[in-house]
Amino acid sequence: MLVGWGGNNGSTFTAALLANRLGLDWETKTGRHSPNWYGSLTQASTVRLGYSASGREVHCPFPALLPMVHPDDIVVGGWDISSVDLGAAMERARVVDIDLQRRLRPYMDKLHPRPSIYFPDFIAANQADRVDNLLEGSKWEQLKTIRRDIRSFKMENNLDKVIVMWTANTERFSQVIEGVNDTADNLLGAIKTGHAEVSPSTLFAVASILEGFTYINGSPQNTFVPGCLELAEREGVFVGGDDFKSGQTKLKSVLVDFLVSAGIKPVSIVSYNHLGNNDGKNLSAPHQFKSKEISKSRVIDDMVSSNNILYKAGEKIDHIVVIKYVPYVGDSKRAMDEYVSEIMLGGHNTLAIHNTCEDSLLAAPIMLDLIVLAELASRITFKRADNSAEGDAADYCNFHPILSILSYMCKAPLVPPGNSLSRI
Ligand code: NAI
Repeated sequence: MLVGWGGNNGSTFTAALLANRLGLDWETKTGRHSPNWYGSLTQASTVRLGYSASGREVHCPFPALLPMVHPDDIVVGGWDISSVDLGAAMERARVVDIDLQRRLRPYMDKLHPRPSIYFPDFIAANQADRVDNLLEGSKWEQLKTIRRDIRSFKMENNLDKVIVMWTANTERFSQVIEGVNDTADNLLGAIKTGHAEVSPSTLFAVASILEGFTYINGSPQNTFVPGCLELAEREGVFVGGDDFKSGQTKLKSVLVDFLVSAGIKPVSIVSYNHLGNNDGKNLSAPHQFKSKEISKSRVIDDMVSSNNILYKAGEKIDHIVVIKYVPYVGDSKRAMDEYVSEIMLGGHNTLAIHNTCEDSLLAAPIMLDLIVLAELASRITFKRADNSAEGDAADYCNFHPILSILSYMCKAPLVPPGNSLSRI
């Protein structure tokens, strides 16, 4: 179930799911196309198994190695503060080719987002004109409605399990306040009393956790305040995030890893973005931009601290992120990066990269991977092979509720306390 189902990512993900399941072909000026899941680790990558007897490398499709859910078996539903059906949402997003839109319309027009939670203070004021599909009632009543929605969606569609994913607008960060959202019980109490610092995304996460279903945060905000994480651990429910890693940041992770591992010292990284979709419009407001800036900035930290030959303790790279809203480019985000590195004997190496990131076409396969891997992880138990651990630890156990394996696909990895995995 997607929160923000009627957005660019939500409608593109739904279009891809249906086009693949129904095998819908479409025409463009370059010819006939058929659907695929390019960009998805679980559907479109291979794994090197080793060598054949004749010394050739053998590669196997990733999905053939593990018993993963097939995308065709996923049923999608969700919520949006905008009431437009998914057919109209796909048209509004201007992502999917027009001929494929025509073929999908009869299916997408029938899909309607459920009313959602809206506290204007958390997303940009410029979003107000699309808001017409809201839940009434107190925070506690809204939480109960979301829990009911999850249960009825599961029952109506005869599903084994539900995964809830936030792909709605980026919110501002919530303040973490002692007595309000610092512990699980305080957070539940704050929802009951309707405290202003409990965000819509935290309410969705709490609803999903209390229903026992995995919750994934595809945006940068701190949905997982300490009380929310404590609740997930207490209930033994998986949570993952934060912020899909799709375009510029994905490349940055790889490139900085490559440079630092090669003994080259990046000293300045400047990243400009301009984009014209609704995400860009929302991020043009300062508080929402701040959430994204923090998430985008974290990606290089671990690489810097991994190499004390290149970087002294506490030394930082000059790292700047700029995002501008340019409506004309729509979902076709432009990312321009300059990497300046120090090389031998005071020399410099400069890389300038221009990356046209079709934002939602990059994000939708990552959404699928997060769902497929989260589901797979919920069926994995493990124990120490040597049985040396004492007591219960010698038995099979699940992954930690903070499902850090998902962080590979996220900009700001959520990891259990005490772990540091910001560059995975
Ligand atoms: P979008 O603006 O097209 O869609 C967001 C949708 O969420 C809208 O339909 C809006 O009406 C809805 N919404 C807002 N608040 C809501 C609430 N409280 N409850 C239910 N619905 C609500 O944005 P897009 O492009 O789909 O991106 C979604 C999120 O994913 C953004 O936060 C973005 O920063 C994040 N993201 C996107 C990436 C990409 O597209 N490549 C990469 C990384 C993160």
